[in-house]
Amino acid sequence: MTLVATNLAILGLQWGDEGKGKLVDLLSARFQNVTRFQGGNNAGHTVVVDGQSIALHQVPSGALHAGCFLVVGSGVVLNLEVFLKELENLRTRGFDLTGRLLLSDKAHIILPHHIALDQWREGGANKIGTTGRGIGPAYEMKASRMGIRMGDLLHPEVLAERIQLGYEEVKILLGPTGTLASLETITANLIELAKPLLPLIGNSQDYLFQAWRKGESILFEGAQATLLDIDHGTYPFVTSSNCSIGGLFTGTGLPPKALDHILGVAKAYTTRVGAGPMPSELLDATGEELRKVGREFGTTTGRPRRCGWFDAVITRHACRTNGADGLGIMKLDVMDGFPEVGMVVGYRDGNGGVTSLLPACAADWAEVQPVVKMYKGWSAPTRGITDPKDLPAEARTYLAALCDAVETPMAYLSTGPDRNEGYVTPGCFLEPLLG
Ligand code: IMP
Repeated sequence: MTLVATNLAILGLQWGDEGKGKLVDLLSARFQNVTRFQGGNNAGHTVVVDGQSIALHQVPSGALHAGCFLVVGSGVVLNLEVFLKELENLRTRGFDLTGRLLLSDKAHIILPHHIALDQWREGGANKIGTTGRGIGPAYEMKASRMGIRMGDLLHPEVLAERIQLGYEEVKILLGPTGTLASLETITANLIELAKPLLPLIGNSQDYLFQAWRKGESILFEGAQATLLDIDHGTYPFVTSSNCSIGGLFTGTGLPPKALDHILGVAKAYTTRVGAGPMPSELLDATGEELRKVGREFGTTTGRPRRCGWFDAVITRHACRTNGADGLGIMKLDVMDGFPEVGMVVGYRDGNGGVTSLLPACAADWAEVQPVVKMYKGWSAPTRGITDPKDLPAEARTYLAALCDAVETPMAYLSTGPDRNEGYVTPGCFLEPLLG
C-alpha cells in the first residue's frame, strides 16, 4: 500500500449518516495521519473487520491501520468514559493504539452534568431530538469560558474549582428534583478516568503543523454534516459545532493552505435523525421502503431515520459552503427497483415564489414546500457495480442531473456497503488516493 502525499477533508453534505465512514475507512490506509476536528460521541460509524463490527464514536478512523497516527483535535468534545471503552474494545480486537494517538490539550471534556442538562432540556418544550450525550452543554461551557480542557487534567489540584463554575449553574437550572452526582464525586471520577489518558495529551496543533511541514499526509475526518452546522445548518435544529469546512481549521489550528482537496459526501437520497425541517421527507410507503432497504437506523442511538428524496437545495448549499471538489455519492443501490425516483430541485415559499436558497429561520422553514422533479427509475440492480459503463441508463441520467443540480462533479459512487462495491470517477482527484 503506497502512501499519498496530499491532505484531504471528508465532509458530510446533508444531515449526517451519509456513509462518510466507508470512505474514511477506504482512504485512511493511505494516509499517515487521520484527525477528527469537531463533534463528540454523537457521531458514530461501524467498521467491519474480518466479519467483526467495531463501532467508532470518538476515536478517529485509521485506528485499524497500524501505520496511521490518530489525532483528536482541539474542536472535539470528549466523553472520557466512552473513549476509554472504545480504546479497550479496539485493544481486545487486536488494535493497540499505543504510540499513535494524540489528544489535544485544548479539546473539551463532556461531564456528567452536561449530559444531565442535555437530557433535561430534551424533556421540555425546546426538544430538538439531540443524541442526549451532553454535546450541546459541553460546547456551551466552552463558549461561556467554564469548560474543562484535556490540558486541565494535568492540573488536578484546580479541577474541582473549575468544574464548580458550570456545575453550580446546571444545578440551579435542574432545580431540587434534578439528580446530579456531587461535585466531589464528579471531580474524583474524572481524575480517576483521566489517568490512562494523561500520557496521550499534548499540543495537537503543533503536531499537525509539523506533520504538514514535513510533507506527511493528513486525512481530516468530519463528523455530522453541513446541515447540522451551528452556523450554516437548519438552526436551531443543529448540533453545536461547525461541521462544515470552517470547523476544520478552528478545530485543528491548521491554516486553509494545509488542505489540498475537499470531498463532500451525500447519499443518493436524504435522511435525517432528530427534529427539524426536512422538505424532502416522504411520510409514505416510499419513505418506509427507503428506510427498510437502506437500513436507516442510527449507529449512535438506534433511532429510525427520516427518509426522503435527494434534496438538491440543501446539498448545493453544502457544496458551496464547503467548496467541495467532488462528491462521494453513497447508497445508490438502495434506490434500485423504484419505478420513479424524485429530486427536490427548489423550495416554494409561503408566497408562492420558488427559491434554491435556504431560509434562515425556523418560521421560514415551516412555510417551505418542496418542488420535486421525478426521474424514471431503474430496474436492473446497481449493487456492486464497479464500472461506470455498467450503470443502467436511467441511473446515469439521475446521477448526471444530481451533479448538475449541486454544481459539483462526482468523484466516487458507492453501490453497496462493502469496500469494493463502488468506483472512483476516472481522472478525478480521488483516483491517485484510492487507486
Ligand atoms: P446533538 O449533536 O446530540 O446535540 O444533537 C443535535 C442534532 O444533531 C440532533 O438532531 C441529532 O440527531 C443530530 N446529530 C448529532 N450527531 C449526529 C450524527 O452523527 N448523525 C446524524 N445526526 C446527528
